[in-house]
Amino acid sequence: MKILIAGKGGVGKTTISALLAHILADKGYNILALDTDSVPNLAQSLGVPFEEALEIVPLSRNEKLAEERTGARPGEGWGVLFSLTPKVDDLAEQYGIAIKPNLKLVVVGSIEQSKEGCLCPALALARAFLMHVLLSEKDIVIVDSEAGAEVFGRGLAEKFDVMICVAEPTLKSLMIARKLIEMGKQLNIPNIFLVINKVRNSLKASQLYAKVFSDSTPYHLVSFDEIVIFVDNEGKGVDFIPKNSSVYRDVEALAKKILGIKKRSKVL
Ligand SMILES: Nc1ncnc2c1ncn2[C@@H]1O[C@H](COP(=O)(O)OP(=O)(O)O)[C@@H](O)[C@H]1O
Ligand SMILES: [Mg+2]
Repeated sequence: MKILIAGKGGVGKTTISALLAHILADKGYNILALDTDSVPNLAQSLGVPFEEALEIVPLSRNEKLAEERTGARPGEGWGVLFSLTPKVDDLAEQYGIAIKPNLKLVVVGSIEQSKEGCLCPALALARAFLMHVLLSEKDIVIVDSEAGAEVFGRGLAEKFDVMICVAEPTLKSLMIARKLIEMGKQLNIPNIFLVINKVRNSLKASQLYAKVFSDSTPYHLVSFDEIVIFVDNEGKGVDFIPKNSSVYRDVEALAKKILGIKKRSKVL
């Protein structure tokens, strides 16, 4: 099952991706977490120590690896022939960071092409890796991404089984989420969820939802919880969030809904 976590910056995508990854791993699933943000920080949220996390080179910036796999030397610019079908099936194994035995992270970095349309070798490698992962029959893949599904485009976006669009309980944030969800629908992602995060008043959040979403987009509320900010500022991962906290329980309920889809649609 391939899950895309989408939403505008700061709404809580990384926090929810990391919590979901830990919760599903604790339930016994094999999880591959991918960070495709241009400023990747899923590693920290998953519990990689700050200094160590700073050392990680995203796949889409790993020129050395790209040269090795695509046959192009960095900086050679236009006209260089390089392989668009590099070997990528061992990358998760070789470059994945083991968070716990059944939870692995690969920092992919931004996969968006530059405005000039240049497809540099490292980016080509990162995209080939994503395609491989999204086509694989492996357990659960969770992708923490910048903004919506559009960065993946047709071909890649269609491979997701679930899109979780995260928003804050404000009118503006929900309007943006509605747009991102529209894109997800256009890209044929079959299961789309809205998660309203940082909720302090669930009645008000539900009323706002009803105002913005006249259709039946399923939604799920996740409480605002000081513990998230505390753990963040201590430089700790979400594995330090107590299991009896409201945020943990809310994301655990979300995990159950996702597993429900998995069982119903028999997606692996
Ligand atoms: N449920 C929550 N309650 C309180 N603070 C939260 C919650 N979820 C996220 N945050 C805080 O919001 C900020 C942004 O979260 P983050 O997961 O990094 O967002 P994104 O990945 O969407 O940019 C962080 O400081 C985080 O601690
Ligand atoms: Mg993030």
